[in-house]
Amino acid sequence: MISGTLIVLSVIVIVLGYFLSNRYKWKKCPPGPRRLPFVGNLLALDPLQFRSYSKWADEFGPIIRVDLATTKTVVISDYKMLKEIFSDPAFSGRMDFTIFDIAGKEKRHGIVNTEGEHWEELRRFSLRQLRDFGFGKTSMEDLVMAEVNELIEIWKESEGKPVSSVKDQLLFAVVNALWTITTGKRHSQKDTVLFEMTTKSNESLSEILESGGVLLFVPKLAKIFPTWSGLTKTRKTGEEFAAYFKKPIDEHKKSYDGNYTRDFIDVFLKEIKDTTNPTSPFHGQFGEDNLLGVISDFYFAGNDTTSTTLAWMILYLTKLPEIQKKIQAEIQEITGNTRPVSLKDRPNMPYTEAVIAETLRFSSITPQGVGHRAIRDKEFHGYLIPKDTVITPNIYYIHFDPKIWGDPENFRPERFLSPDGKTFKKHEALVPFSIGRRQCLGESLARDSLFLFATNIFQRFEIKFDKNGPDHGFEPKVGFIVITPMPFNIILKDRLV
Ligand code: HEM
Repeated sequence: MISGTLIVLSVIVIVLGYFLSNRYKWKKCPPGPRRLPFVGNLLALDPLQFRSYSKWADEFGPIIRVDLATTKTVVISDYKMLKEIFSDPAFSGRMDFTIFDIAGKEKRHGIVNTEGEHWEELRRFSLRQLRDFGFGKTSMEDLVMAEVNELIEIWKESEGKPVSSVKDQLLFAVVNALWTITTGKRHSQKDTVLFEMTTKSNESLSEILESGGVLLFVPKLAKIFPTWSGLTKTRKTGEEFAAYFKKPIDEHKKSYDGNYTRDFIDVFLKEIKDTTNPTSPFHGQFGEDNLLGVISDFYFAGNDTTSTTLAWMILYLTKLPEIQKKIQAEIQEITGNTRPVSLKDRPNMPYTEAVIAETLRFSSITPQGVGHRAIRDKEFHGYLIPKDTVITPNIYYIHFDPKIWGDPENFRPERFLSPDGKTFKKHEALVPFSIGRRQCLGESLARDSLFLFATNIFQRFEIKFDKNGPDHGFEPKVGFIVITPMPFNIILKDRLV
C-alpha cells in the first residue's frame, strides 16, 4: 500500500516537475499556433509540412514554436537567422533517431545522425576522402559521364515512345557514380534488388508520415505499438539494406591490402586498422558499424536528392520549352555539339547555371531541410531555446519569399543573371543544401552531377511532355524528407542524328 502511494506520488512529482521545468524554460518562448495538450500542433500539420510552416510564418513571423507531440520545434523562416543559428555549435546536434539505426543496435552511427566529436571526425574524414577519390576532380567527372552516356544510350532506344520511369532511371545512373566511389563497383542494369529495396523503403517512410508520424515524433510510443506505428516494417527494410551494404564491406575485408587503397571502403578499413584509441569512431567493431552508417548515409542522402532534382528540372523544361531551347542554344554555342559538355565549360555557361539554380529554388526538394537539435539551453534573438528543441529550417519559405525574390511563383532563371545576361549571379538566400556547420557534405558532387547530366541530356535530346500521360502540373508528392514530382511521361527526340 505504502509503495503504491509512493509510486503514484513519484509519478505526479515527475510529471509536474516536467511541466514546470518546461514552462520555465519556455518562458521566453517564440510565438506560434495554439498547441493542444500532448499532440501539440500535430493534428494541424499538412502532410506537406512546409505548407503549414509557411502559413504560420506569415502569421507569426520568422521564428516560431511548433510542437509535434512531445517533440518541441522552432521553425526558422529567415535566411540570415538560419545562417546564424546553424553556424552555432549549440544548435548543431541531431535528434535521436537511433530507432532507425542501420547497424540495428539502437546507437548513433555514421554522419547524418551523429553529433559532437564523433560526428566532426567522421564528417572531416569522409569529406577529405571523397575529395581524394574524385569530388571535383577529373576522375569524378569520368565516373559521372560513364553513367550519363549509358542513360543516353538507353533513352535513344525509347525515342518517340512515352518514357514513364524518368525518376527511377535517373536514380539508377546517379547511384552508380557514388557507389563506384564508395565500393569500387557499378550495378548492372539487371541488378534491380537495390532499386526494389529503395522503392519499398520510400513507401514505408511515406506510410509513417501518413499514419501521423508517431515513429518520428514520439519514438517511445512507436516502440509500444510497433506494427501500428510502422516500426516493424521500417526495421525489416532497414535490415535488408544493412545486409546489402555489408556485402561490399565483407568482400573488402577479405581482399584488403594495406599498401593499396582502392576506394572509400578501403581507406575507412585502413583507418580502423590504424586506430587504437577505444573512444574513436574508427575503433574496432564500432568503427565497422560507423562504416556501415556512412555508406548508408551516402546512399540515402545522395541519391534520391540528386535524381529528384534532375527529374524536376526535366519536368520544368518540358513544360517550359522556350527555356529548354535557350539552354540548348548555349550548349551549342560552347561545344558546337561536336563534343560532350564537360565541367570546364561551366564558367562559360551562365544561362545553364541560372537554370540549375532556379531548379534548386523552385523545386526546394528538402523544403524543411533536416532538423538540428539544441545541444544545450541557449538564447537566440531574445528567446530561450531549451536543450533538445529541434530547429527546423523553412527552406521552402525562404525560397518563395516575395520580399527576396519579387515573383517567386514564376520559374525565371534570369533572376540569377546579370542584367546583360552574361554573368551568373549567386544569391545568398538560395540554400537548397542548407547552411552552416552541417551543410550538405555532398554539395560539390551534387552540383557536378546536376550540371553534367542536365547539359549532356539536353544536348542530345529534345524532350517533350507527353500530353497523353498523367499531368499533375508542378504539384509534389508527399515525401519523408525529399519531395518528388508526381508521375509524368516524356517523349524524346534525338537532336544529333
Ligand atoms: C541536389 C542534391 C542534394 C541536396 C538538395 C541535399 C541537401 C541536403 C540537406 C538540406 C542536408 C541537411 C543539412 C543540415 O543538416 O543542415 C544535407 C545533408 C547531407 N547530405 Fe546532402 N543533398 C544533396 C546531395 C547529396 C549528395 C550527392 C551526397 C553524397 C555524399 C549528400 C550527403 C549528405 C550528408 C552525408 C549529409 C549530412 C551532413 C551532416 O549531418 O553533417 N548529399 N543534404
